[in-house]
Amino acid sequence: MLIAQISDTHIKPDGQIAYRRVDTADFLAKAVAHLNALHPRPDLVLVTGDLVDAGAPIEYARLKALLAPLAMPFYLIVGNHDARDALRAAFTEHRYLPADGFVQYVIEGHPVRLIGLDTLVPGEGHGEMCATRLDWLEARLAESDRPTILFMHHPPFECGMAYMDGERLRDGADRLATIVQRHPNIERVLCGHVHRSIQVRWAGTIAATAPSTAHQLTLDLDPAAPLTFKMDPPGALLHAWRPGSGLVSHISFIGDYDGPHRFR
Ligand SMILES: [Fe+2]
Ligand SMILES: [Fe+2]
Repeated sequence: MLIAQISDTHIKPDGQIAYRRVDTADFLAKAVAHLNALHPRPDLVLVTGDLVDAGAPIEYARLKALLAPLAMPFYLIVGNHDARDALRAAFTEHRYLPADGFVQYVIEGHPVRLIGLDTLVPGEGHGEMCATRLDWLEARLAESDRPTILFMHHPPFECGMAYMDGERLRDGADRLATIVQRHPNIERVLCGHVHRSIQVRWAGTIAATAPSTAHQLTLDLDPAAPLTFKMDPPGALLHAWRPGSGLVSHISFIGDYDGPHRFR
């Protein structure tokens, strides 16, 4: 099983670019073409939040048109730039999306069970998981001890980028860690939000963030660093599940780079 992850697509209304210089729609079109061209092709795609830039219905309509050419099923969760009801209204045929309340769901029918989580606090940049969301997760995890991936927008861990550490998953992160610790079948906690590829041992598993399909946050570990972005290469993560090997994660850069070349 091959699982692709893209993140932080930040789609704007038609004709608008983000932050005066990033054509996020063009970047997403390239990401979709990139995923469709992979051999083997991913079985499905997780899109880990900040789907659009301002939670507006016209942004979701454009996102939907941009994702339509994807050759495989894709699963959406909310980030801090998203709005739950506008997302649901645009993607009514995505039957896994709950009709109301938090955007949390389980995808079954694959060798790895996929659990999408909702960390959104409307109007805020940071994330939280309240008791309702965590109780739901505990009940889902109690149903099965099969290999499982949790995917959510806000990372529950500190990454050393000071500004983003202030905007990570705050309330609920400790209880989430306790829950995850009790379930060694959780192979990964896959996140977005930081617009960079980062991995850490967390709560007895591996937690990771994906790069954005568009702009990346500047890697600056100076505690006083301001929040800036940089046009580092965009990418997708590819999580390959093979019995015996478990889950192996790769970064797949999106764009035209020289090569491949033979060594001899
Ligand atoms: Fe983002
Ligand atoms: Fe975010």
